[in-house]
Amino acid sequence: MNELECKLEVHKCALCHDAPCKKIYKNINPERIIRALRLENKKGARSLLQNKNQWYEKKNCDEKCPLNINIDGIIENLVHTEEIVEGFETMDIRSEICGVKLENPFLLSSSIVGSTYEMCKSALEAGWGGVCTKTICMMPIEESSPRFSALKDWDETFLGFKNIEQLSEYSVEKNMEMIRRLKKEFPNKVIIASIMGRDEQEWEYLAKEVTQAGADLIELNFSCPNMKQKGTGSDVGQNKELVEEYTRVVRKSTHLPILAKMTPNITDMRVPALAAKKGGANGISAINTIKSITGIEINSFIPEPQVNKKSSIGGYSGRAVKPIGLRYIAEMSTSEELSDMAFSGMGGIYTWRDALEYILLGCSSIQITTAIMEYGNRIIEDLILGLKIYMKENNYHTVKELVGKAKSNLVNNSELDKNTIEFPRFNYQKCIGCGRCYISCKDGGHQAIKFDETRKPLLDAKKCVGCQLCKLICPQNAIEKAMKRIEKEFKNNMTQSKKILR
Ligand SMILES: Cc1cc2nc3c(=O)[nH]c(=O)nc-3n(C[C@H](O)[C@H](O)[C@H](O)COP(=O)(O)O)c2cc1C
Repeated sequence: MNELECKLEVHKCALCHDAPCKKIYKNINPERIIRALRLENKKGARSLLQNKNQWYEKKNCDEKCPLNINIDGIIENLVHTEEIVEGFETMDIRSEICGVKLENPFLLSSSIVGSTYEMCKSALEAGWGGVCTKTICMMPIEESSPRFSALKDWDETFLGFKNIEQLSEYSVEKNMEMIRRLKKEFPNKVIIASIMGRDEQEWEYLAKEVTQAGADLIELNFSCPNMKQKGTGSDVGQNKELVEEYTRVVRKSTHLPILAKMTPNITDMRVPALAAKKGGANGISAINTIKSITGIEINSFIPEPQVNKKSSIGGYSGRAVKPIGLRYIAEMSTSEELSDMAFSGMGGIYTWRDALEYILLGCSSIQITTAIMEYGNRIIEDLILGLKIYMKENNYHTVKELVGKAKSNLVNNSELDKNTIEFPRFNYQKCIGCGRCYISCKDGGHQAIKFDETRKPLLDAKKCVGCQLCKLICPQNAIEKAMKRIEKEFKNNMTQSKKILR
């Protein structure tokens, strides 16, 4: 199988629970390997297969893959295209959040995934560094059915996910019991209690309760977009006076570090973040979900999810929101006034690489919901494995060394180099002559690609502005960066069209 066929096969896999395929082979669990490949952890997948010939050892059994995935082909491709990385197992991926030690940077974010003792326990046992509880409140919570909708990719994976859910449906007492039990049974894991009050008295009461129950940190939910009651949730996060006031009340009621969780339904998150800092918060969590409509059923005219023939705007999360989360984190972490705050990053994190991107922009901890809802707690295996392998290969010894490493490379658009150009380079070995680059350049670019009966693209360097739309569009990844950038002045002085082939 070539690389593309292998990718398609991997994406066909249903990632079954207790997968039948693991009973087919003597030494390997194909589901585990394919899951690592799905979660951008190819090196991790390779590490699960130390011995080249292991997978051929099949058991004498009747089990088979319900989708007839070509497991041998996937593993053979993996063995031939990826080298084994040695010695990553002992890498130190400890981190911290407002001075509280984390065995790894990965936590469940406040949501359904951390709403009961059993769910948190199973996540902690699976290897998560901690959990942030579903937001604890004193108001009656009534939810609708159904309460989720999704924008899906061709292979049915979620591109984006919408929920119209509110806060914890369980009583304060039941939530306190959960925190007490978790802290007792998992003293080295971090428990963040997420809370939301309707007024100063409720914020104070909840802060005192969770402190007494033994939480390690408190997260203030200033950001739920689905609240029934006006003046709560993202209404607070959009109002810097209320953010400061409620943070101050909590500050007076606890000695614990405070994270203020921000809403992305605002133009400039630095404003409420600064208000939270003034009120006494030690860190910022971001982002909560983005107000959205995922789609409308076009025969009934009812938006999704349909709750007895009606719907409402809800919070968007998952893969689609990562760029927005990264943007808000970057704006805050590069702000001088917020430079002493801790950042806990979330929004669209599925893989170790997504998590690392948040870390590189200044987050020392990572929180996740949608990926867990889609794939389960088991994604922690690839978050840890992938991060360890990256650190080993790149010679980093602590997570701290990575925190904020990308910040200095982010500048204002006005500071970007506008004097040089990076031309695309066609790799004719990979090019299949589909002409997609030609179409996009003609209709959405600068008409700089010629495409004749030879079915090979040729670049007119005189016209090309180096936007690289062609590189993004190419279905074969056959367009690469030029070796070096050239001065625009040089290009402008060209007397006749030149064809740059490679
Ligand atoms: C079903 C669902 C329920 C959520 N409930 C809460 C909540 O109770 N409190 C809160 O602060 N955030 C809540 N969130 C927001 C998540 O904690 C997180 O900020 C957001 O989903 C972005 O991360 P993700 O893309 O990893 O899901 C919820 C998200 C989802 C999808």
